[in-house]
Amino acid sequence: MENLISLVNKIQRACTALGDHGEGSSLPTLWDSLPSIAVVGGQSSGKSSVLESIVGKDFLPRGSGIVTRRPLVLQLQKIDEGREYAEFLHLPRKRFTDFAAVRKEISDETDRETGRTKQISSVPIHLSIYSPNVVNLTMIDLPGLTKVAVEGQPDSIVQEIENMVRSYIEKPNCIILAISPANQDLATSDAIKICREVDPKGERTFGVLTKIDLMDKGTDAVDILEGKSYRLQFPWIGVVNRSQADINKSVDMIAARHREREYFSNSTEYNRLAHRMGSEHLGKMLSKHLETVIKSRIPGIQSLINQSIAELEAELSRHGKPIAADAGGKLYAILEICRIFDQIYKDHLDGMRPGGDKI
Ligand code: GDP
Ligand code: NA
Ligand code: MG
Repeated sequence: MENLISLVNKIQRACTALGDHGEGSSLPTLWDSLPSIAVVGGQSSGKSSVLESIVGKDFLPRGSGIVTRRPLVLQLQKIDEGREYAEFLHLPRKRFTDFAAVRKEISDETDRETGRTKQISSVPIHLSIYSPNVVNLTMIDLPGLTKVAVEGQPDSIVQEIENMVRSYIEKPNCIILAISPANQDLATSDAIKICREVDPKGERTFGVLTKIDLMDKGTDAVDILEGKSYRLQFPWIGVVNRSQADINKSVDMIAARHREREYFSNSTEYNRLAHRMGSEHLGKMLSKHLETVIKSRIPGIQSLINQSIAELEAELSRHGKPIAADAGGKLYAILEICRIFDQIYKDHLDGMRPGGDKI
């Protein structure tokens, strides 16, 4: 049976693909009703590093300053076997197996939209990664929050970034991955500042503490990791990503994960928290949480899908037969996906039993 998260991924992709053709249908509402995970934090807080650790691959453009200038919708799909590859929505049918080329395409596609200036754009880039080594997850990488514009940027950029980030994370269906660096006072964390506004009770915010290895000697992050400094409903997770020196030396992800595990289990401060620390744990926990949220939303998604099926059919018949092959193909594709979802939902109801885990 098809995994629920990958099915939702497909619906999200289909909604996006349909975007410019779907006017008047309820598809944008459908997209908003599906849960997603957005990564939020200040510039250089470690957002890209956290995403790469979860994926276990180097594929994001990096550097100092504002590198992420468009939202990146990243869909991870676990495949049973075979070689990992990536695909962009704007380059259908082109399979990337070289992840350095993926990184270059993200930069190039950013420049295509923003014209090589340091401007930002809210038009997302969609990237899917298929790999035996990932958990099923959809995450959105957002431009880093900042307090000052850099040279070549208008002062308004500070507010523009904040507005863009807020437009994603204020949606009740958005799960927030709030990244704060441990070598800065938590009270000054950009991530916490904005999350406190949009999710004051911390009901959909996962706090991630990066750069634990860079804290001043004699200080530790135990209070934060135990939720004593800033309380969230979910436990805080500490990570140790690769340093810039590691990246320059091309320390690979597997080695980095291994070292991260050792860091926590070998330290006297963190040893007893080690089982719930690290990027690998973070990825698993997010995937599990996403699945729980999707399950709880099934009835709502279901009724929207029913509505969408009806509207799609109406739209198709309105177009009559001579519909542009492209637009028509996409409409049929999403209709098909909606039908599959519908079927899976019915199977789920049929198969429901105490303790059962049908989907
Ligand atoms: P972003 O701007 O939020 O996406 O941040 P990046 O992921 O690009 O990280 C900024 C810099 O901090 C890079 O040089 C990373 O190597 C470094 N960095 C990120 N996380 C950690 C960490 O946990 N430990 C150490 N030592 N360096 C880190
Ligand atoms: Na950066
Ligand atoms: Mg980044």
